[in-house]
Amino acid sequence: MSGAAWSPDSWTGDAFQALQMPIYPDADALNAATTQIASFPPLVFAGEARNLTAELARVAEGKAFLLQGGDCAESFAEFHPNNIRDTFRVILQMAVVLTFASKLPTVKVGRMAGQFAKPRSANTETIDGVELPSYRGDNVNDIAFTPEARIPDPQRMIRGYSQSAATLNLLRAFAGGGYANLHQVHRWTHDFMGKSPWAERYRDVADRIGEALEFMAACGIDSDSVPQLKATSFYTSHEALLLPYEQAMTRQDSLTGDWYDTSAHMLWIGDRTRFEGSAHVEFLRGIGNPIGMKCGPSLEPDALLRLLDVLNPGRVPGRMTLITRYGHDKIEAALPALVRAVKREGHPVVWSCDPMHGNVIKAANGYKTRPFDRILAEVRGFFAVHRAEGTHAGGIHTEMTGQNVTECTGGGVEITEQGLADRYHTHCDPRLNAGQSLELAFLLAEMLNEEMGQRRRAA
Ligand code: PEP
Ligand code: CO
Repeated sequence: MSGAAWSPDSWTGDAFQALQMPIYPDADALNAATTQIASFPPLVFAGEARNLTAELARVAEGKAFLLQGGDCAESFAEFHPNNIRDTFRVILQMAVVLTFASKLPTVKVGRMAGQFAKPRSANTETIDGVELPSYRGDNVNDIAFTPEARIPDPQRMIRGYSQSAATLNLLRAFAGGGYANLHQVHRWTHDFMGKSPWAERYRDVADRIGEALEFMAACGIDSDSVPQLKATSFYTSHEALLLPYEQAMTRQDSLTGDWYDTSAHMLWIGDRTRFEGSAHVEFLRGIGNPIGMKCGPSLEPDALLRLLDVLNPGRVPGRMTLITRYGHDKIEAALPALVRAVKREGHPVVWSCDPMHGNVIKAANGYKTRPFDRILAEVRGFFAVHRAEGTHAGGIHTEMTGQNVTECTGGGVEITEQGLADRYHTHCDPRLNAGQSLELAFLLAEMLNEEMGQRRRAA
C-alpha cells in the first residue's frame, strides 16, 4: 500500500474502505460543491505546516510540549467572535502556566477553524421510537431531529469553509496583533473565573511573569527588541474525516511540489478510521502536513507499527503525533506495549494524551458527561507510563471551551450531575470549561516539572 502511487483522490479506490462518511443523495450537487471549494483560496500555507512539523519535532525530542484543544464539534450556531476569543485565551492561559512551570516552550494547536465533521458510534439515532440518521457534524447535516435536517447537504461544506476562514482570520489577528502580548497576561482571565480557586494561582503566575518582564525591560529587553513577547504562533487542526472536503482543499505546494491539505495546519485520523486499508489512512499518507492519529484500546502494537510505516515511511520527526485515549482505568496497562514497540523500531513520534474520549459516562439524568477526576487520573497515568519508559509525555489533547459551560462533572467549582442541565451547550461531546481547563493546566505543570526534575537528576 505505502509504495503505491498516491493522488488526492486515490482514497476513493476499491482497495480502500471509507467509513464514517455521509452518502450524499445528489452526486451532482456534491460535485458542484467540491469543485467550488477546490477553487477557493487555501486556508493555510505549506510553509506554515512545515513550521508546525519542525515545532513538533522539538516536542518529539522532549524539548517542547504540545497543547491541542478546542471544541468537540464547532457549530454554525455557536459561531461568534467572543467564543473564538474566549477559547483562544484559555489556551493562552494554559500555555503560560505550562511554560512557566516547565520552562519548555508550548506548541499551541486549536481544535478550531475546521472541526466540523464527527464520527458516530451508530448510523442512526432513536428518540421516542423515531429513528433518524445520526448527526455527523455541521458541515454534513443539521443537529435538529427531523428527517429533512438529517439529510447530508454538500452546500454545508461551503459554509464550513467560510466559517473556518473567518475563524482563522480572527485567530491570526489575536496571535499576531497584540492580544497575545505577554504583557497582557493578567487580562486573559475571564470575569466568571473569579470563583475558581485556580484563578488565584493563575494571578500568582501572572504576577511573577509581570515582574520578570519588568526586570527584562530594565535590561533593555522588551517587545520592541524581542518580537516573541508581543506575538505568538498558533496553529489549527481538525479530524480529517470528510474526505471530499479535505480532497478539495488539497493543493500542490509550488515550492516543493509536495501535496498539502490546506484546510488546517495539522490533521488527525480518528480512532474509528485508523485501521489498515482505511481510505482515511490512504488520504493522509500523501499529504505533507503533520498528522495526528488517535490510539485507543483496540490498537495492537504491530498494527500501530505498520500504520506508522505507511504514514511516515521517511521517519520524519514531527510528522506523527500519537494521541492516546484509553480511559482512566486502562491506560497504565495498555500504553507501555505501544511505547516500547515504537521506541524499539525507532519511530520519532510525539506522544500526546487525550483524556477525554475514553472517559465518557451517562449521568443518571441522561446527560453524556466526563467526570473531571477521571480526566485527571488518565493524565496522571499517561505521565506515569512515560516516566517509567523513559519517554517524553509530549502533549495534551482536550475538548474545551472558554465558555462557562457545565458539561463535565467535578473540578474546583464542583459541577454536580444535577448541575449539568444549567449550561450544557455542546453539539457533541462534553467539554472542559475555562476553570477546569486551567485546573488541568496546573496538574500538567506539576507533572512536567517532575519529568524535568527526573531528567536533571539523570543528566
Ligand atoms: C474526537 O476527537 O472528537 C473523537 C471522535 O475522538 P476519537 O476518534 O478518539 O474517538
Ligand atoms: Co469528541
